[in-house]
Amino acid sequence: MRGIAIGLFLIVAGLVQRSAAQTPDGKTLYEATCKKCHGVLGTPPKSMKERFAKIATFDAAFIAKHTEDSIVTVLTKGKGDDMKPFKGKLTPAEMAAVAKYVHELAIRPRS
Ligand code: HEC
Repeated sequence: MRGIAIGLFLIVAGLVQRSAAQTPDGKTLYEATCKKCHGVLGTPPKSMKERFAKIATFDAAFIAKHTEDSIVTVLTKGKGDDMKPFKGKLTPAEMAAVAKYVHELAIRPRS
């Protein structure tokens, strides 16, 4: 009886661990794919602002106007000439995780 309980516990623990590993990490994805242009905290570096006049800063005003879903749409379809679509490069779950992270960036106090 005890052996079965332990066996079940191990199966459940394994499943929980697997699903945690499959949830994409927005921060890691953002830093790998967006930081170069949008900046580590969502403020684009000066060089990028000079290169891309329309690049947005991800601050409170930005997220007030852009839902996570609308960010996923930009990631899927791209915007203008310089924001290339990430369709095929990021999965829908990864785009959702990055969009969530963009919102988290914006509510974080910056110095
Ligand atoms: C090559 C540089 C570059 C990279 C890499 C990049 N972006 Fe952009 N992004 C831009 C530029 C430039 C714009 C402005 C496009 C325009 O409005 O014409 C933009 C626009 C956006 C917008 C729309 C803002 C608005 O005004 O509606 C969002 C959201 C966005 N980027 C998110 C991301 C995310 C998330 C990533 C990473 C997955 C990313 N970008 C990667 C350059 C980049």
